[in-house]
Amino acid sequence: MKNILVAGGAGFIGSAFIRHMVAAYPEYSIICFDKLTYAGNIDNLLPVSDAENYHFERGDIADRAAVSRVLQRHAIDTIVNFAAESHVDRSILAPDAFIHTDVVGVYILLDEGRKHGISRFCQVSTDEVYGDIESGYSQEQDRFLPNSPYAASKASGELMTRAYHMTYGMDTVLTRGSNTYGPYQYPEKLVPFFTTEALEERPLPLYGDGKQVRDWLHVDDHARGVDFILHFGAAGEAYNLAGETLRSNIEITRRILQWLDKPSALIKYVPDREGHDRRYAMTAAKARALGWRRQVEFEAGLRATVRWYQENEWWWRKLKAGDYQRYYQRQYAERLAAAK
Ligand code: NAD
Ligand code: DAU
Repeated sequence: MKNILVAGGAGFIGSAFIRHMVAAYPEYSIICFDKLTYAGNIDNLLPVSDAENYHFERGDIADRAAVSRVLQRHAIDTIVNFAAESHVDRSILAPDAFIHTDVVGVYILLDEGRKHGISRFCQVSTDEVYGDIESGYSQEQDRFLPNSPYAASKASGELMTRAYHMTYGMDTVLTRGSNTYGPYQYPEKLVPFFTTEALEERPLPLYGDGKQVRDWLHVDDHARGVDFILHFGAAGEAYNLAGETLRSNIEITRRILQWLDKPSALIKYVPDREGHDRRYAMTAAKARALGWRRQVEFEAGLRATVRWYQENEWWWRKLKAGDYQRYYQRQYAERLAAAK
């Protein structure tokens, strides 16, 4: 392993992975390949922009010629793919981009990677492929029951990755991360959205009864987990990167308001997300048996995250303009008007 292509490295988790890898492995060359969609943000990579072992190339993983070019130019031997359309609400409003990137893009990346003889391909996936888990904890061999266009597109990317391993003997590994929180997360996702809205004393649109449960993982633990599986995972295998920390949305919302010293009257119960999964829960036993451990404790991690958004308005304020406003109107205007 020497020259690593990190697709989607300008996003939330991909940029945490790059910041970690550039510092941890000065002997590796880390090449970020990113389309810079609304979620891609070069500011996320400012801490490494001057590092000698870091390079940036703009491009689309579904563009075969661009992928081929970057693999050749940097003599890539390893691919880690974070690139995705990642927001469930947007997949409900407009699924096309999800098929383009999370399905076709993964296929092109695999296919070009195989042609260029890369030695390992790591596809970053999600616990959403298991669907709604009423009780118990998802294990890697459980069946897929994705419920949103986003989850179905990620499941498709996984299946294609498996096929390239089974059919062509490609060395692939898959990671399935749980809900990730931390600095530099685009302010459409629950934690940064509610934190930045609360800072401005705007209503927090909580879907349904707010009792949906997610398993929470700090972004640095997610990044270290992908590094770990990349180095030590067995070819053809999938690994849950679970925070094993279940919390309801209302619990998290109350915590954010408490720490920001804002009134609970900001919470607005709005009509639910369509096809909304009630509960996600995974066991990380398989990754743990290999030696991976989550390090960040949830309460401390969430508190530090809320503080980071408080202290870094420069980062998120400019993101909440233009297209974001159009998305906000489409997603929330009617819901907030119908709020209880
Ligand atoms: P994100 O939306 O913050 O970032 C996605 C990145 O991919 C952006 O930089 C974007 O510009 C880039 N991108 C999108 N389409 C592209 C294309 N066609 N070609 C090249 N680049 C493209 O996403 P994230 O939250 O950092 O998630 C990263 C990965 O982790 C995704 O695959 C997601 O499915 C998975 N995941 C996310 C979470 C979570 O809670 N955020 C949890 C588990 C798994
Ligand atoms: O589980 C892993 C997944 O976590 C990742 O694969 C996805 O990329 C990531 O976006 C995340 O998906 P979720 O749908 O769980 O995340 P989101 O932040 O959109 O929502 C978290 C919970 O909060 C969910 O139950 C919906 C709820 N929610 C979210 C928003 C944005 C609200 O109640 N109101 C909101 O406005």
